[in-house]
Amino acid sequence: MSNPSNQFIKSTILKLLGAIGSEKEINKYIEKFSSPEQRFAVIKVGGSVIDNDLENLISSLVFLNQVGLKPVILHGAGPMLSAALEEKKIDFSFIDGQRVTSLEVRDVAYSVFKETNKKIVEALETQGAKAHGLISNIFECTMADPSLGYVGSIQSVDINLINEVLELDSIPVIAPVGFQDNEVLNINADIATVELVKAINPYKAIFLSEIGGIFNKTGQLIPNINLALEYNELMQEKWLHSGMKLKLEQIKSLLDHLPKTASVSITQPINLPKELFTDSGSGTLIKHGYSVVQHQLPDKDVEDQFRKIVETSFKGKLVDNFFNSPKDLNIFMTSCKRATIAISNDFTIPYMDKFGVIPEAKGEGLGAGIWHEMRKVYPQVFWRSRPNNPINSFYTSICEGCQKQDEWHIFWIGISDYSALKDCIEYAINKPKSVI
Ligand code: ARG
Repeated sequence: MSNPSNQFIKSTILKLLGAIGSEKEINKYIEKFSSPEQRFAVIKVGGSVIDNDLENLISSLVFLNQVGLKPVILHGAGPMLSAALEEKKIDFSFIDGQRVTSLEVRDVAYSVFKETNKKIVEALETQGAKAHGLISNIFECTMADPSLGYVGSIQSVDINLINEVLELDSIPVIAPVGFQDNEVLNINADIATVELVKAINPYKAIFLSEIGGIFNKTGQLIPNINLALEYNELMQEKWLHSGMKLKLEQIKSLLDHLPKTASVSITQPINLPKELFTDSGSGTLIKHGYSVVQHQLPDKDVEDQFRKIVETSFKGKLVDNFFNSPKDLNIFMTSCKRATIAISNDFTIPYMDKFGVIPEAKGEGLGAGIWHEMRKVYPQVFWRSRPNNPINSFYTSICEGCQKQDEWHIFWIGISDYSALKDCIEYAINKPKSVI
């Protein structure tokens, strides 16, 4: 490892690995993403990322290349195009996020796209990754709308060229340029990404941006969005601004076209490896998701499914009398039957007796989804967890209070009365073990 490019790769890998999880987690995802049945990912890179964060972008893509993963890249060039037009004193405007494209604007756009495309391809090649620019032969279009001018409405996507590049072990880098016969047309990069994803059907669609996610009303990053449960709620939120609503709408339409295992991640270039190769990620993960069903017992099927989830997630045996000793149990379960919560109503305040997600489903946001549904029904709840349970950092982030004892950590939400709390803690500590 002596030439400068190898040095770059080595330091890149060390830098990125330091930020991510265990080797086991990384290998799990490398295996998942290398499946021959489904392409790994389409990555949309916003124009401002190329302008302001090219180095991290290239590091992360080179890292993927090093672990043998070949994404398909689609880039924008919005800010560069606006700057070029301003410099040339050419006026421009937008209708619904699409740039009105006169012949003059189109010609500048085409040259800016070519230049930006070349910049990415060259940067990748300098760092030892094979890359191939694809400009204007991918999206067959018609002119969208006379008021938009030379803007393409995508009719078909030629994925043969993309496949050829991938077969050559090279990374396709695509510009959102369309064509109609011999005419070049401008396409909004988000729209081009959606059509590209539908055509390629990858495991993941990734949007790299400078802010790297969707944020809630207090400005905190939303780590998971389960569309089946949250889409309607989110679209009604006043704090979600219209640009994000549009993006979410596009993402929903995209996920509606993909298998349920597919997902969309929004993240920053520097956090891409962490997002991809850890369960907790770093960014916003959006999935089609599963609904959550509440079950009353007795119900033999539900009991069997519950037992299976709990036993695989806790790697132990659920005691035989689990369903008899707490008499009033409420079971929440995702429709995919891979995550479950049991709430016992035997005490004065509801007690969360079990919360399990099977190991293979970790990182899909199922736990967050089922938790969200349970909380709608139970504003007050308390539970316990072993001090070494890795889920404790999640519990710490969502609880309102916690007491740490040697054998158990007790957490609660919605309980402010001190003596009630004391009874809850007492109850939790003395409850017999239910997984052995
Ligand atoms: N590494 C997994 C993936 O890429 C999980 C990512 C979780 N990310 C998150 N923001 N919650 O699919």
